[in-house]
Amino acid sequence: MESFQASSAIARILSHSQRPASFTAAGAISLSMGEPDFPTPEPIVRAAAQAFADGWTRYGDFDGDPELRGAIARRVESVRGFACSNEEIAVTHGATAGIAAAMVAVVDPGDRVVIPEPTYSLYHDLARLAGGTPAPVPVRADHHLDFDALKRELPGARLIVLCNPCNPTGAVFSRAELVQLSRLLAGTDTLALVDEAYDHFVYGVEFTSCLSIAALNERLIHVQTFSKTYAMTGWRIGYVAARRDIARAIGRAHRTFNGPVNAAVQRAALRALHDDGALVRPMLDRYSRRRDLMIDLLRRIPGLECRAPEGAFYVFAKYRNGLAAADLVRRLGEGGVMVRAGSEFGACGEGHIRLSFAASEPDIEEGLRRLRAVMDRLEAEPLARGKPPSLAYCS
Ligand SMILES: Cc1ncc(COP(=O)(O)O)c(C=O)c1O
Repeated sequence: MESFQASSAIARILSHSQRPASFTAAGAISLSMGEPDFPTPEPIVRAAAQAFADGWTRYGDFDGDPELRGAIARRVESVRGFACSNEEIAVTHGATAGIAAAMVAVVDPGDRVVIPEPTYSLYHDLARLAGGTPAPVPVRADHHLDFDALKRELPGARLIVLCNPCNPTGAVFSRAELVQLSRLLAGTDTLALVDEAYDHFVYGVEFTSCLSIAALNERLIHVQTFSKTYAMTGWRIGYVAARRDIARAIGRAHRTFNGPVNAAVQRAALRALHDDGALVRPMLDRYSRRRDLMIDLLRRIPGLECRAPEGAFYVFAKYRNGLAAADLVRRLGEGGVMVRAGSEFGACGEGHIRLSFAASEPDIEEGLRRLRAVMDRLEAEPLARGKPPSLAYCS
């Protein structure tokens, strides 16, 4: 064998990926992570330890621990207002495996997958991995859905993928938007995968779960994870809720790739679902204060503009110094602060950077001091960089 060639599935992901390698530098402050910086709440950790001690160490049910599925079904029921059976729930290795299983279960080669962007890049990659053709639809300047563009792109699509609240923009799509989307989809065969990973983290606006939009129900693939809400990124647990026949197909894809989910972790997830808000509220309060701090500091930096995010824990800031986002990220890294390039989240994210406020207050303050120093230096540089990138879509 001379040289190894990855499969065409992998080649499909690599060929489109413009994602710069994430920049890491010794001593740099990270405002780049999509991960809570809090430890998993003690009661959840204790529940896992107890589960291991009690012998939850064997293969579990392939579709998920029946008790956990039941608790998830009760939660789905309480949001959508009518009964949910365990057969509508698939427990997954985090949202990542849930989305992967859903793509493989519903997307055939050549199917179009409409993706409002900028958004979490995994959707694009997984749509391609499944052989589908992603159809990016830029959001409006205020980061909300562009229904004229959706009206053009949706006919004939197999799937639309929505991230609500949105990583990276922080937009929270309103009930009116979701109802309008349901009207666009009515009478079609297009399914809607809605990833609500950040549903507990919203700031001063109302969050509407797609589960509560009755007109979406027959086509909804609701994706959820314990990673963000309960600071459980390393535990790898989430779930998908969908109509029974769709959930069955997704469960089949998931078990084929992964086998059953870790038994003891599922018992810990059950404990998390019993939370009445006491475990999550302190984290929400901290995120809320950090969001205010980050916006206040960012708005003092010349050459940067940002909207206050309505949800999640990111600010998607627009800059005007003419550098490509990947180059700006490199320059910022050299200046001691790590952020993400907006172009990672779709072509229309060019000209933006994503900053995470899942970081301590001192890190936010020092990180933004360093960011300002780099931005000031760039402002002073001669404009050898040429024209600013086009911000036509989502400026
Ligand atoms: C919108 C969104 N969905 C899903 C995930 C991944 O979730 P999990 O850890 O459950 O795989 C992330 C991680 O950043 C995310 O931002």
